[in-house]
Amino acid sequence: MPHLSHLGAMPVEEFLRDYWQQKPVCIRNAFANLEPLLAADELAGLSLESEVESRLVENDGDIANWRVQHGPMQEQDFAKPRAYPWTLLVQGVDHFVPAAFDFAAGFRFIPAWRFDDLMISYATKGAGVGAHYDRYDVFLIQGEGRRRWQTGQVCNSQSELATHNQLSLLQDFVTEQEFDLEPGDLLYIPSLVAHKGVALSDNCVTYSIGFRAPSYSEVLGGFADFIGQQLSADQRLHSSPEPQPAAEISAYDIASLRTIISQQLSDENLAQWFGCMTTEPKNSALDLSEEAMDTTELATIIKDAYGVLRVSEGVRLAYTWQGDGGMTLFAQGEAIACPPEAADLAMALANELVLEVADLASLASTEASQAVLLVLHNQGWIYFDDE
Ligand code: SIN
Ligand code: CO
Repeated sequence: MPHLSHLGAMPVEEFLRDYWQQKPVCIRNAFANLEPLLAADELAGLSLESEVESRLVENDGDIANWRVQHGPMQEQDFAKPRAYPWTLLVQGVDHFVPAAFDFAAGFRFIPAWRFDDLMISYATKGAGVGAHYDRYDVFLIQGEGRRRWQTGQVCNSQSELATHNQLSLLQDFVTEQEFDLEPGDLLYIPSLVAHKGVALSDNCVTYSIGFRAPSYSEVLGGFADFIGQQLSADQRLHSSPEPQPAAEISAYDIASLRTIISQQLSDENLAQWFGCMTTEPKNSALDLSEEAMDTTELATIIKDAYGVLRVSEGVRLAYTWQGDGGMTLFAQGEAIACPPEAADLAMALANELVLEVADLASLASTEASQAVLLVLHNQGWIYFDDE
């Protein structure tokens, strides 16, 4: 599946050079004739499911009174009109709706390991979740209706928050730019930039495609944990054989610590950890069961050459090359060793997400590549779609 080459009239290279992680930009008509990814009642339906993360924010006058309800929602939550404007926010719609998965894949001009999810918000006129900042870069695409967005100051951990026990709202918001978004318009907001959206119409639907980045603290803590799990408790720190003052932590001790740590700091260990960490499922409740298939069934499908092979919605894939032309494929937090004969297939799947079954005759011609295909299929991480 090819990613977008342009956002509206802007080549993605220009976007990456001039705006990405630097400053907000509004791109009018980035998606001409955008079809809704799913209907409002289907979005409400998703929020009733136990494995779907959702929130409903009701703007009852003063900010301190704004009510936040966490999903799963109940049918009756949507049965009667509400007295105040409200927003339903549903996370990870790309895990459940192929059209949302495909739409988000358009943004794979950004490294896939950064991608978090596609959230959809549905708001009534006047509704909004308040002034806040996210530690995410986000593309906000107006799906239906109209919304006014304001962008403001760059925030940080010291930025003062308003008193609300469930929403992290900013105490102060300094408006810098204002954009009224119509269907198909896009607003990009870098991480930490304050923003505030208010629905200008009923049936105001916004698609929010979020990109994450681990903090330095998560990098160091995560890597250390990962390595720690692989080391034996039998390996212990030794002290110097030389006499030394009892209370002194010696240069020898520090050098031993440095040796232990630097021995683990190989590119291979870093890649293994990073691949596993960044492909860990966002939604561990996702049901990916797929009926197990054997080599003979797979051979028949490849021979019939009909339909497509898709990476399952919500599944994260990444890979890293090994010296011998083979690779490690990471899927849902697990590492799968692929010999060189399986590398083309693994690379195509991880990069393209959808392959023509007709192309498998050449991509999956080896036993090794078919074995990788079966592992992925039987975990439910890929599936054949003959629609
Ligand atoms: C919204 O879509 O209402 C909120 C999205 C955001 O500000 O992150
Ligand atoms: Co936000």
